[in-house]
Order: sequence, then structure tokens, then C-alpha cells
Amino acid sequence: MSKTVTAAAHPNLAVVKYWGKADPRLNIPANSSLSVNLGSAHTTTTVCFSSDFDQDVVRLNGAAADDRTAARVTRHLDRVRRLAGRTERALVESVNDFPAAAGIASSASAFAALSLAASRALDLHLSERELSILARQGSGSACRSIPGGFVRWEAGQDDASSYAYQVAPPEHWDLRITTVIFSEQPKEISSSDGHALAQTSPFYAARLAGLPHTLEVVQDALLARDFARFGLALEREAVSMHAIAMTADASAGEPLSGPLSGLYYWQASTMQLIQQVQGWRRGGLPVYFTIDAGPNVHLFCEGAQQVALEAELARLLPAMQARTIVSAPARGAWVVSEG
Ligand code: PMV
Repeated sequence: MSKTVTAAAHPNLAVVKYWGKADPRLNIPANSSLSVNLGSAHTTTTVCFSSDFDQDVVRLNGAAADDRTAARVTRHLDRVRRLAGRTERALVESVNDFPAAAGIASSASAFAALSLAASRALDLHLSERELSILARQGSGSACRSIPGGFVRWEAGQDDASSYAYQVAPPEHWDLRITTVIFSEQPKEISSSDGHALAQTSPFYAARLAGLPHTLEVVQDALLARDFARFGLALEREAVSMHAIAMTADASAGEPLSGPLSGLYYWQASTMQLIQQVQGWRRGGLPVYFTIDAGPNVHLFCEGAQQVALEAELARLLPAMQARTIVSAPARGAWVVSEG
């Protein structure tokens, strides 16, 4: 029996998005990206290996994981077993403290926590960079949940050069991120479909050509705590990603072939909130949005504006039947207990 290790990690939210893969097998992205860890949500994962087990057993939120998820976890455990030169099977118990389809991707925190717990349970003491690479192999953006605070994922050219590192610690900037949840339905179009079809958009080459500049603007504004510059750049960046999704040729995708023309993640409420955010800014409330591969909207403001933003949301959201989760920038993956 190996030791039992429990590790935890926060999900992360990209302010410069990863959209499209250079190498789908290794999850090497077509572009570098930038994110912040979300402190109000986390995954906690316990791993124990034993030669008494004849197969991996994966439990998610207190129940047996479905076959697809279990197979994905086993593939990841195989990577850890290969690194450690070990063969024992494992018992994995993973719990999310946020709803599965809340508009916050649980795969990032899940694969970050699993990478840390499984590697420690087999006595591997990986560096932050090595852990980030391992987490990326499990689920691309999971590599950004390993370091703390504000994190950059360098696309790199191969397995060894594609990893994430901290650009500023969580306390660098007192930001609040309010996730506005319109839909808790599992999304109809996965981010994997979005990555796979990105190249079919006629605008994808233009997006990639502009990204090095976007990254520098967002990162500089972040380091200088220039909120207006940061916010405008992050809105334009989110819309750029969605423009690629909407103009992708969905008929080129295997599971999606049929009546879809492009990938539309937004709902009417998404657009309504985008317009509201512009109105708030015109009225003097500095708040900016970003949107991932789903309809839900993430609002950024500085800590001092959170009360004013909450008052606005309290007026707006009941009619939209939405609820919110408010996060501050947070630490990287950590070991909760080991022994
Ligand atoms: O890591 P994935 O395959 O879940 O892709 C993440 C895609 C976005 O959330 C839309 C952008 C990003 O960089 O997180």
C-alpha cells in the first residue's frame, strides 16, 4: 500500500484564452495564454496505490465515475506510473465544492489536484514545472492551476517546453471575479470540439497573429495594475475567441456534423449582460467581462467596487434567474495531507 495523499487545486479563468491545439495528443496549444486562479472553488482529490487492487477505482463527488471519466483518469494515472516506474492500481476519490456545470471548468482543478496527489503518493517529488507539464497532458488548461495567482502558460514547441508559471502572486492585485451562472446544464458543445474546429475559421490566422501583442498588453496592464487597460483588452480577447468559434465550420466536425453552421456558446442572457456591462462603465462603474466555452459570464472588478457591483447585480439577476459565485485570485495546487 502506498501512502494516502490528498491534494487540492482551484480552477482557473483565462484572461487570454487558449483556443486551438498545435498537438492534440499532448495538449500543446496553438498560443500562449494567461489566467487567474479562482479562490471560491476547488477540487480535493485523494489517491492511494496498492498492489492489492486489480484495477483503478475512481469516485467523483461520492459516486462511481462514469466509464469515460474513469478511463481518462486511468490514462493519467498511467502517465504517473510510467514516471515512477511503478505498476500498482489506485483508488481515487475526488470532490468538487462547486456545481459540475457552473461555467467554471472542473477539469482544470481536477487534473491539477490529481497530478499532485498521484505523483506524491508514488513518492515522486516533481518541480512546479514538471507538475504543470503532467497536468497539461491530462487536460490542457489544468497546467495553469498548478502555480498560484496570475499564471502564464507558454505554448512552447514540445512536451518539455509547454508549461505554466506564475507572473504575479494572488495578493498582487485585489480583483474580484463574479461568475454569473445562467445555465447549469452540461454544455452542448465541448471545448474539445472548439479547439478541434478553430482552424476552420477564416479569421483564425488573424487571431493567432495578433495574440503575442494581446498577451503583452494584458500582462503589462496586470503587472502595472492598470485596470481600464487590462479590462478592455480582456473583453476584446474573449470576443475574439468567440468570433473564431462562431465562424468555425461546424460541419467539419465529426460529432457535430449536421445543421450547425458555427459554434455558438452564447445565449440571449449572455448578450444582455455584455450590453449591461458597457452601460455600467458608461455610468462610471469599472467592470469588464470574459466568457469561456459556455453561456456564463465572468465579471472582473477591483475589490473596492465589489459592493457597488453586487448592488447592480441584485437589481438585474432575479429577472434573469441567474446566480453568482464571487472569487478572489488564489494560490496554486497544494498538498492537504499525506501519510
Ligand atoms: O483546457 P480546455 O480544453 O478545457 O480548454 C479551455 C478553453 C477555454 O476555457 C475556453 C479557454 C482557456 O484558456 O481556458
